[in-house]
Amino acid sequence: MVTVVVGTQWGDEGKGKIIDYLAEGMDIVARYQGGGNAGHTVVLKDKKYVFHLVPSGILYPDKICVIGNGVVLDPVSLFEEIDYLEKSGVSVEGRLFIAENAHMTLPYHKILDQIEDKFRGRGALGTTGRGIGTTYADKFNRIGIRVIDFLEEDIFMEKLKIALELKNYLFKEYYKEQMLAIDKIYEGTKIYRERIKKMVKNIAIYLNEEMEKGKSILAEGAQGTFLDIDFGTYPYVTASNCIAGGACTGLGISPKKVRRIIGVVKGYTTRVGMGPFPTELKGVEGEILRKMGNEYGATTGRPRRCGWFDAVLVKFSAMINGLDELVMTKLDVLTGIEKIKIAVAYKFDGKLYKDYPFNAKVFSSCDVVYEELDGWSGDISTVKNYNELPANAKKYIERIEEIVGVPITGISVGSSREQMVIR
Ligand code: GDP
Ligand code: IMO
Ligand code: MG
Repeated sequence: MVTVVVGTQWGDEGKGKIIDYLAEGMDIVARYQGGGNAGHTVVLKDKKYVFHLVPSGILYPDKICVIGNGVVLDPVSLFEEIDYLEKSGVSVEGRLFIAENAHMTLPYHKILDQIEDKFRGRGALGTTGRGIGTTYADKFNRIGIRVIDFLEEDIFMEKLKIALELKNYLFKEYYKEQMLAIDKIYEGTKIYRERIKKMVKNIAIYLNEEMEKGKSILAEGAQGTFLDIDFGTYPYVTASNCIAGGACTGLGISPKKVRRIIGVVKGYTTRVGMGPFPTELKGVEGEILRKMGNEYGATTGRPRRCGWFDAVLVKFSAMINGLDELVMTKLDVLTGIEKIKIAVAYKFDGKLYKDYPFNAKVFSSCDVVYEELDGWSGDISTVKNYNELPANAKKYIERIEEIVGVPITGISVGSSREQMVIR
């Protein structure tokens, strides 16, 4: 009844494209965590859409889209997106719903996120500056403002006072920045109150009732397993549980309802922002991948760091997410590379690591043990049938399947909806 789609690397695996592809057979598409830091690209009839908060199923006019309680909601970003969609002829009226208990990202969260990352100096994370960590921090610190609180004017004012008092103290006394006026935030967010009101629901009850009626749900993960707050390359992570388990806490559905878990994996590895990346290609090879794969952030436009496929990571991802299957994207980008490498283990201080180590010293300084495979040539971007792929491309896919231990059931060979090879 519930299918979860999760990123298996450091985000930007192509989840947007795969969710759009899978959404056709679903009733509801529901985002379960993250916020405006996500950038999910869907290409339809040569038009490119980048979704930050709106679920990637929105381009099907008959699908219901849901933003779950696990998401942090920036109303400015949300309505920018909705207005762009409406201008492009995509109406969200009556089919986009927001959880009452999702937390709001307000102006001070974004300012603080940017200041804090600057203050980290050498330890900067390279966040997206969208107020993600600061909104989740307030949520856990119990001074957050939920959508339902935002809608009640007196409660909002009361909570805003409490939150802002602390923030303004930090701005003034510690960061030597300008303080924020409560009235300005209150007035500035007024326009969103009316618009949000119509979309708000008790999403946990809604989704469970819809499941009772036999409706299918596609749970859309943002970011990826190694950006997960618990299992990622801490502290170089985001502030939410991106893994499949996050779908239950982020939507209010029981683990018993999850029937299928699909991992999206890029045919190589990319990462945006700071943090260790064992298979990173720092020279021309990395630049070639960046150019061929057009690897620039969908949210911030930053160049993505590129490297070889890391099977050690994806194997861990398969375990922690309980993947039933993998869909591989961007296989077309590897076309023309003579020798392609797959990381199968790490070496550090004379010791061999076949599993992903939490020890940051090991993970950031290890040598990588690679297997090398022959590449392939010729355009594969129009291939529809697995058997029509070049023999070496199939060998590459099958070797990854073997190491990771999960079947690769779909292969994406281009950014548009039709460019899919189903096995
Ligand atoms: P997401 O965050 O996981 O949804 O991924 P992004 O949208 O940030 O980045 C993926 C990028 O790769 C987007 O520009 C997609 O249009 C593009 N893309 C997705 N699948 C493929 C593919 O199979 N081949 C190529 N060449 N591009 C793809
Ligand atoms: P999608 O859903 C790739 C990265 C940032 C930074 C770190 C923390 O498009 O795959 P944050 O703003 O979340 O506090 O930043 O996480 N990051 C992403 N990288 N794809 C994403 O989302 C990301 N969202 C956050 O670059 O390194
Ligand atoms: Mg992205």
